[in-house]
Amino acid sequence: MKTILFALPGNEPVARLLTQRLGCELGEVTFRRFPDKESYVRIHSDVEGKKVVLICSLNHPDEKLLPLYFLSCTAKDLGAYCTCLVSPYLAYMRQDKAFHEGEGITSNYFARLISHFADSLITVDPHLHRISGLDEIYDIPSKVVHAAPEISHWIKEHVRRPLLIGPDSESEQWVSQVAEDADSAFLILEKTRYGDRDVEISGPDISEYQNHTPVLVDDIISTAQTMIESVGHLKKAGMNAPVCIGVHGVFSGSAYKDLLNAGVARIVTCNTVPHESNAIDLTESYVEFIRKFEKTVT
Ligand code: R5P
Repeated sequence: MKTILFALPGNEPVARLLTQRLGCELGEVTFRRFPDKESYVRIHSDVEGKKVVLICSLNHPDEKLLPLYFLSCTAKDLGAYCTCLVSPYLAYMRQDKAFHEGEGITSNYFARLISHFADSLITVDPHLHRISGLDEIYDIPSKVVHAAPEISHWIKEHVRRPLLIGPDSESEQWVSQVAEDADSAFLILEKTRYGDRDVEISGPDISEYQNHTPVLVDDIISTAQTMIESVGHLKKAGMNAPVCIGVHGVFSGSAYKDLLNAGVARIVTCNTVPHESNAIDLTESYVEFIRKFEKTVT
């Protein structure tokens, strides 16, 4: 079965890397808005009988979901055999419980929507906190790629005497893995979140690591307050300027600039959300699942 890839706007660099790795066609599509802001999607390539791979990182998900949905439905109406969604950053994973009365569990609702129009899903380190796997909320076959091996590889090549640091208990799952692969010590700080942009960081005594390079690793950098407060904590403890690594650099508003100004040595992210800080390429890890999924459906 032939494979054809389509990039949602902004996802072209990852789509190009993937077409090279898969040796497949990059599809042509027009996206635009009507004057009343409704979405217009038109596929120019032949998709009949093909596996259609949709590349769409779901940061800023509300504005992306409808064009993505329309593209998937259009491809199927035009005879596509199936659609496989490659969404390196999967949105709405943090609202996995009702934190306050009257709230909904939007991670579940979002999963239902995606499962309705895509036949399979590949993503990178989704924020699995209170659920243990995507299968608990997604009804389609899914593949979770872990960024840890590539992050460790990058650290080994670029950082001298690293000390891996996770900003909160949730980060221990990936920080411990990265540290193991990078042959580095690690420690975990404690975070208390009071609001979207209000976090406090405390932690253990780190004086014995003063001649190390601290490497802060988190899954998501959104407002960057978690990173900024962690950087401040390390500064107070007399540590060197840290390298900040985020799997997903979502960077809301001025977050990237704010973090740069906080006194970091460098900010590095994986190419799961297109951004100038992308330095770690994960596309090779998507290839096998895309190929395998092809085998399952033929
Ligand atoms: C939450 O628990 C995540 O692991 C991240 O620590 C969090 O999303 C970072 O958000 P922000 O950059 O807004 O502090």
